[in-house]
This record gives sequence, C-alpha cells and structure tokens, in this order.
Amino acid sequence: GGSDVSSPLSGRISTSSLSDLKDLEFSSESGCLSIVVLGASGDLAKKKTFPALFNLFQQGFIQSGEVHIFGYARSDMSDEGLRERIRGYLKGASDEHLSQFLQLIKYVSGSYDNGAGFELLNKTISENETSENNQPGNSRRLFYLALPPSVYPSVCKMIRSCCMTPSSHTGWTRVIVEKPFGKDLDSAEELSAQLGELFDEEQLYRIDHYLGKELVQNLLVLRFANRFFLPLWNRDNIDNVQIVFREDFGTDGRGGYFDQYGIIRDIIQNHLLQVFCLVAMEKPVSLSPEHIRDEKVKVLQSVSCINHDEVVLGQYDGYKDDPTVPNESNTPTFASVVLRVHNERWDGVPFVLKAGKALSSKKAEIRVQFKDAPGDIFRCKKQGRNEFVIRLQPSEAMYMKLTVKKPGLEMATEQSELDLSYGLRYQDVKIPEAYERLILDTISGCRQDRTSATSTVAYASPRGQHMR
Ligand code: NDP
Ligand code: BG6
Repeated sequence: GGSDVSSPLSGRISTSSLSDLKDLEFSSESGCLSIVVLGASGDLAKKKTFPALFNLFQQGFIQSGEVHIFGYARSDMSDEGLRERIRGYLKGASDEHLSQFLQLIKYVSGSYDNGAGFELLNKTISENETSENNQPGNSRRLFYLALPPSVYPSVCKMIRSCCMTPSSHTGWTRVIVEKPFGKDLDSAEELSAQLGELFDEEQLYRIDHYLGKELVQNLLVLRFANRFFLPLWNRDNIDNVQIVFREDFGTDGRGGYFDQYGIIRDIIQNHLLQVFCLVAMEKPVSLSPEHIRDEKVKVLQSVSCINHDEVVLGQYDGYKDDPTVPNESNTPTFASVVLRVHNERWDGVPFVLKAGKALSSKKAEIRVQFKDAPGDIFRCKKQGRNEFVIRLQPSEAMYMKLTVKKPGLEMATEQSELDLSYGLRYQDVKIPEAYERLILDTISGCRQDRTSATSTVAYASPRGQHMR
C-alpha cells in the first residue's frame, strides 16, 4: 500500500546523525516545497502541526528560501493573525529564529467546498514558487488536512481541481489525511473510494501520530529483540493488559470536530488500537510495512465481538458548557472497553482499553500485569503484582514493578522497580515529537522502499484494510 510511511529506526535525531539524515532525506529532490495546513485556525494546527514544522525548521530540515508554509481555513485572519495565534506554542528558540520561521507563514481564508478560496490559495502558492526562481513543474506541494473528516472529500476535490503542482518528473503533490478515517466502515470505504478517484495511492498519506511516538516505535524492538520477554508474553504469565489514555483537559473549543466523533472514534479506534496491535500481534516476517500490517490484521481478526457488559461510557461534567458543543449532546468523552483475543497466545487475557478527556491527569501508558507467582513461601503481607509499564507520555519510561527483599535484618518483602526513565538514561538526546517524524517522512516520501535506517512501521493501513 502506497500510504505506508516508515521512519528512522534510531527514532532520535542526535547531532551526529542529523547531517546523515538530512542528506538521506533531501539529496534527491530540489525545488520549492510548499506546506499547506488546511484547518490552520484549529487545535491540531496550533498544538502539533506548526510546532512540529518549527522544530524541523530549528533542526535545519526546513529552510528559508526553499520552504513556504500556508495556512488555510474559513476564519477571517491576516498572516499576522495566524502568526500571533501559534506563536505561544513554538518553544525553545531565540526571538530572531522564531520570527524567521513566522515569516515563512502566510494565511489564506476560504471555504472548504468552493473554488474561489482554493484558486486564491493556488495563486498565493504559485507566486511564492516563482519568486524562488523555481523551475516550472519542479515544485513540491504538501497538503496537510488538519480538519474534521467530514470535509476531507470536498477539500480533496478542490485541491485536485485548483492546486495540483504541474506534473513533471521531479515535482509532486501529496496529501496528509488525519485520523479518524471516516466514522464507520461504510463512511471509511466511501471516503477511501472518493479519495482514490482523486489521487494515486502514493500521493495519499493517512497518519496516526501515536505510531510516531518514541515508545510506540520501540514496541517491536522491545518485544522481538529481547529474549526474556519471549517466553513471558502470553496467557500463561500475563493476567491482563491495560492500554490507557487520559487527558486533563476537555474539548477546549474543539466541539465542532469532537462532538461528531466522540472518544471512541477520536482515540480508541485508532491510537489505542494501533498500540494494542503492536502489543498483541505475532512476530512479523520482517520489518516491511506489509508484513507488520499482515500481523496487525491477523490479531484484529482474532478479537471477539465486544461484550456490552464490558463497556463503560461517560461524559464529563461541563462538556456541554463548551459553546462549540450542542446542548443536547450525549457524545461520550470517556470510554473503557475490554478486547478479548481468541487465539492460542491470549485466550482468557482481557485487554482493557480506556480513554478519557478532562480527567485528573494527563498520561498514556501500557500496563502489562502478570499473574501471581505460584506457591508463595514468604507469607508476608501481599505486595502488588509484577507489572511491566511502558509510559508513552509524559516523561517516556519503561519500568518493571517487582517484589524484593526489604533491605535490612528482617526477612520482609516490598514492591520496588527496575526503572528505565528516558529523561535520565538519554539525557543528551532530544526525543522528537511524533509529528516531526511523520511530516519528515512524508516530505521525503519515506516508504517501505527505503532500505537503510528505517523502522518500516506502517502508520496506516492501506486502502481496503478496514476492520468492522
Ligand atoms: P478543530 O475542531 O480545531 O477543527 C480544525 C478546524 O476545522 C477549525 O479551526 C475550523 O476552522 C474547521 N472546522 C471545525 N469544525 C468544522 C466543521 N464542522 N465543518 C467544517 N470545518 C470545521 O479540530 P482539530 O484541529 O482538533 O482536529 C482536526 C483533525 O485532526 C481531526 O481529524 C482530529 O482527529 C485530528 N487530530 C487532532 C489532534 C489534536 O491534538 N487536536 C491530534 C491528532 C489528530 P474554520 O472554522 O476556521 O474553517
Ligand atoms: C488526537 C485527538 O488524535 O490526539 C485529540 O484528536 C487528543 O483529542 C490528541 O487530544 C492527543 O494526542 P497526544 O499526542 O497529545 O497524546
């Protein structure tokens, strides 16, 4: 599937690897690169997309003179208005660096289903391309849909009819589509068919940013490169697995998108299910995206129908106070669901997937809880069980909770930890944000055909691989 994206295996951009990476990514392409963020007035754009572009700019992956950034949305704003809106989210730079980056950004206002706005967008992009003495047909245009999926088809039609880069050997047009991909199987298939009519598969990138997170990228290595996990990772030893996402803020004005989808489609069906697949699937034949995808599909097909008694839904108090949320909404903002995998490895082991907004803390983690050791001879007060925790965020860490002898003269036990906290262990490494990795991979067209330095994690399923 052309929509599979892969990324650097090292998963970190250390100073020594930075120049190698830059050579690898950009050596074969030249020409002006225009990055267009559609939905530039929104939450994703300000919190993730522009900050990721800024981090790439700071590391030299995006350079003045070669790259132009355009925001597009319906909201009425000036270039300066957009810059002010995102400024507070761009961290860790000198004022000079920050203003250099902000000067790369222009804003165009228009609707999502009418040619006039997109023609204006095309004109604005083209003017900047020619101002860089770009050869006709050499330009690269990346359209990033930071929008509710309901408008993807009309926006894609407009891009196709008004904004494509003139075809040539070296130029390209690529479209990044965010999750959730549709609302259910029918709408996902319909969307797939609609986008398939407009773009070739290699022009489309469907992304799930959880797959770009460092500790999610680490899951395959952890499971399949470490001997001591191999015999333990099954129903004989594991009691249950919890995959948990909590956020300590609510919709914050995103009701326009969120209320149409709810927490299951926003988080569980994509982010948590991808993590679940990597935790539960069998070892792939190789690291190629197709082989990884095949194992994911297999484990998803082994999941039994969800039992309604094992589902909890909730809505946080105050959700409907958000003016962007309809007063009568019963959209869930919290959900907990138990997945049961009917196969030899996992029969009887519940996988509990939980996600909630506006909770008391912000955390995403995988907790693998082990069964008790049989035939206890210590007869001490019962300690907690063995547990292996992979904390995706904040403060990436893996730790193993285990029972040890309490230091001292008496024979007593206590719960302790083997702790691999990334902040302590990798002090000199800046762990990249998921979106930096994803955007860089998309710009470089990084797919399964890149053989060196790839982790070949598939960020999305190819067209046609939908699960009921
Ligand atoms: P927003 O609600 O902030 O929507 C983005 C922009 O889309 C808005 O600024 C608005 O722009 C326009 N918009 C909102 N509602 C509608 C509507 N009903 N019809 C047409 N346009 C609308 O959403 P997010 O930015 O949070 O999310 C956008 C996409 O990004 C979703 O697919 C989401 O799953 C995904 N995503 C979001 C993340 C996040 O952290 N927020 C992280 C990962 C993925 P205007 O009115 O100016 O045109
Ligand atoms: C997005 C959801 O996909 O992920 C948002 O649409 C959520 O609702 C966000 O806030 C969380 O991402 P992260 O990387 O901050 O955990």
